[in-house]
Amino acid sequence: MRIGIIGAGHIGSTLARHFASIGYEVAIANSRGPDTLADLVADIGGPIRAVTAEEAARIGEAVVVSIPYGRYQELPTEPLRGKVVIDTCNYYPGRDGHDPDLDADATTSSEKIQAHTGANLVKAFNAIYWENLRDHARPKGAADRVAIPLSGNDEEAKAAVAGLIRDIGFDPVDAGHLGEGGRKHQPGSRVYATEMSSAETSALLSVA
Ligand SMILES: NC(=O)c1ccc[n+]([C@@H]2O[C@H](COP(=O)([O-])OP(=O)(O)OC[C@H]3O[C@@H](n4cnc5c(N)ncnc54)[C@H](OP(=O)(O)O)[C@@H]3O)[C@@H](O)[C@H]2O)c1
Repeated sequence: MRIGIIGAGHIGSTLARHFASIGYEVAIANSRGPDTLADLVADIGGPIRAVTAEEAARIGEAVVVSIPYGRYQELPTEPLRGKVVIDTCNYYPGRDGHDPDLDADATTSSEKIQAHTGANLVKAFNAIYWENLRDHARPKGAADRVAIPLSGNDEEAKAAVAGLIRDIGFDPVDAGHLGEGGRKHQPGSRVYATEMSSAETSALLSVA
């Protein structure tokens, strides 16, 4: 499996480490260029290389986008069109600047990224603090496995991302479509940064 990762910060690099540790081929990018990722790539080791964002988008069979939401218009578009893209981004106006559409709750950050890129977007890994993502992977069946809510409009894409979530030691929980479902696990929602089991997460998502 080839995973492209655009954004090599807390979440992007943590996912890179998880995927490389199970033998997936990882191509990771930031905004400053591959040379600036040499130390990270050496530290992670295994089947990982630093590339440009454009290359990460092309190489990945699935592509993680993990950048500050306010910079989404910098994302490559042509190589992401139709591709399964995992969107970890959250909207924080203090960091990202104000987006009137999101302030009015007329749409969601994921739907805006989907519209910009034309990707087959699945929102996931946005509701877990990066240190918990780093430290709390558990083998399948472990009693303390942590849930990762995900949302998206395409069932096949969601199933593919659910598989990736399981592969790196977490339990996927489907929150629904990108709009309604995505709102259920964005900042301020009941399940955001709570770190619960899949049963607890499902129960909260069903009443949200
Ligand atoms: N931190 C958390 O615990 C957490 C948890 C869940 C979700 N999130 C969300 O996930 C996203 C990433 O968070 P983070 O904490 O990992 O951020 P971060 O540590 O600040 O890292 C951001 C990364 O994005 C890269 N980047 C920015 N613009 C880019 C562009 N146009 N093309 C390619 N790379 C670009 C940066 O590269 P340069 O340094 O080269 O600019 C950097 O590697 C955010 O939307 C955040 O709200 C964060």
